[in-house]
Amino acid sequence: MDPILSIRGLSKTYATGLQALHPVDLDINKGEIFALLGPNGAGKTTLISIICGIVTPSDGEVLADGYDIQLDYRETRSRIGLVPQELTTDSFESVWSTVCLSRGLFGKAPDPAVIERVLKSLSLWDKRNDKIMTLSGGMKRRVLIAKALSHEPTILFLDEPTAGVDVELRRDMWALVRGLRDEGVTVILTTHYIEEAEEMADRVGVISRGRLILVEETQALMKKLGKKTLTLALQEPLTALPEGLSDWFLTLKADGNELEYVFDSNAERTGVPSLLRRLSDLGIGFKDLNTAQSSLEEIFVGLVHATAEEAGQ
Ligand SMILES: Nc1ncnc2c1ncn2[C@@H]1O[C@H](COP(=O)(O)OP(=O)(O)OP(=O)(O)O)[C@@H](O)[C@H]1O
Ligand SMILES: [Mg+2]
Repeated sequence: MDPILSIRGLSKTYATGLQALHPVDLDINKGEIFALLGPNGAGKTTLISIICGIVTPSDGEVLADGYDIQLDYRETRSRIGLVPQELTTDSFESVWSTVCLSRGLFGKAPDPAVIERVLKSLSLWDKRNDKIMTLSGGMKRRVLIAKALSHEPTILFLDEPTAGVDVELRRDMWALVRGLRDEGVTVILTTHYIEEAEEMADRVGVISRGRLILVEETQALMKKLGKKTLTLALQEPLTALPEGLSDWFLTLKADGNELEYVFDSNAERTGVPSLLRRLSDLGIGFKDLNTAQSSLEEIFVGLVHATAEEAGQ
C-alpha cells in the first residue's frame, strides 16, 4: 500500500542553533492511527508543524498524498487538518462562524451541512451561537477540533488532544478519532499518555531528543518488549528472601506479604514452574497468584532512559 505521508530526511535546526529534529524517515499508511510518543521538548510539535507548513524544515522532504508540502503547499494543506497543542481561542466570534471561517480559509465552498455534522459529532451543536471566549477549556478544545475538521481533511494531526481534559472528554475524543479512522481519515496524534497510544494507535513512534528512536506496531511492541510480572500473595510474610530462591529475580513487596517475579514472557524457559516447585520444597505457601503484562509506559520509560544514557546524560 502506498503511504499517505512519506517523510524523508526531515530535520530542523531553529535559529537559536538548537537541532530540534535529526533526520527523520517515516511512512504513514492510509487510514492508520499513528501515535507519536515522547517527553517534553522531544520534537513532536516541531515534526508536526513542519508537515502542516507552519515551520520550515532545514532539510528533507515530505509528500502528502503524493504532493510535496513545500512545492504544492495549497494541495497538501487542503488535505491536512491540524489541532494545535496551544489553545488560541480568545475570540468574540461564535462557534458557528469561527468553524465556517476555518473551512473558507482552505478554499472550500461553504457547506452548512458539513459544519452541522462536525459540531454535532463534537457535542458542540448546542453551543453553536456562543462566543468562543465564554466556553470552558474543554469546549474550546472541541472547537479547535471542529475547526481542523471543517474542511474535511483526509489527514488529521492532533497535537496532545487530551492534555488537560477530563476523563469524559478524553473518551469522547477517542471515540471521535476511531470514527474518523473508520471513515478513512489517517490520524497522527502526539501524546504523553501512554495508555492513550496503547488504546488507540495501530502504530507507535517514540521520539526522544529529536530522534525517532523506534517505530512499531503497538501490539508487536507490547509483545516484543513486554515483560510479565508474577505476584504471589504469601500465606506467611517473609522477612528476607531465602537463600534457595537466589536463582530467580525476586522482590519482596507489601511488607514481605508478596513475592514478585519479573520474567520474559517470550523466553523458552520463564522460570515460573521451577520457581513454584522450589517454593513448595521450601514450604513457602501462597494464597493467590496473578500475572500482569508490563505496560507500554514501562517500555517507554526504559527506552527514553537508554537513549539519554547513550547520549552520556
Ligand atoms: N521556535 C523555536 N525556536 C527555538 N527553539 C524551539 C522553537 N520551538 C521549539 N523549540 C525547541 O525545540 C525543541 C523541541 O520542541 P517541540 O515543541 O517540538 O517539543 P515537543 O516534543 O512538542 O514537546 P512538548 O511535549 O513539551 O509539547 C525544544 O527544545 C524546544 O525548546
Ligand atoms: Mg509539543
